Amino acid sequence: MERIAVYPGTFDPVTDGHINIIKRAAKLFDKVIMAVSSDNYKKTLFTVEERLALIKECCLEDLPNVELGVFDGLLVDYLESKGAIAIIRGLRAVSDFEYEMQMASVNHLLNEKVETVFLMTDAEYSFISSSIIKNVAALGGNIDHFVPMVVGEALRKKYKVGERHGG
Ligand code: COA
Repeated sequence: MERIAVYPGTFDPVTDGHINIIKRAAKLFDKVIMAVSSDNYKKTLFTVEERLALIKECCLEDLPNVELGVFDGLLVDYLESKGAIAIIRGLRAVSDFEYEMQMASVNHLLNEKVETVFLMTDAEYSFISSSIIKNVAALGGNIDHFVPMVVGEALRKKYKVGERHGG
């Protein structure tokens, strides 16, 4: 039986931290679906289509067992529809723990067949979040150490950094 996991997130935008997790998850499962949430509970900078395109450009080429997906509604229902057995989550710091434990517990209560697998984010990515990167980008800071090149370009375009800083 193929062992399938889902790595869910808003990915607004995808960062090197997310890529670190997906690469490692891909080694553990036969197939991993990187699932972009299309719920609009979080106001996003990039549309679902833009987020998917960025992931496609920077993550999928070297990872043949990683697929891209979109979901809304309950995550456990999405897993069921894909025949997946596990949710992948990255833990960056102790501060992530409480929220993650809550989510894992709720998901397990909603569907006891679903397990959550936590991967510790490599230390160099432990302080990255999509919001921090957007914040730095909006103010014209250099974000190239935290995101793939295409994502950096997309952020600069969104924030029209070149125009604001006369470059
Ligand atoms: N590296 C870098 N950044 C990371 C990271 C990592 N390893 N892990 C998380 N992050 C960042 C994310 O980019 C995000 O940043 P932001 O808040 O600045 O945008 C932040 O940490 C939180 O990420 P995450 O917890 O993954 O939230 P999310 O919004 O990306 O995704 C869902 C949350 C979509 C997975 C969750 O809300 C969900 O499952 N929704 C479906 C509804 C449901 O089933 N609810 C019941 C279960 S609780």
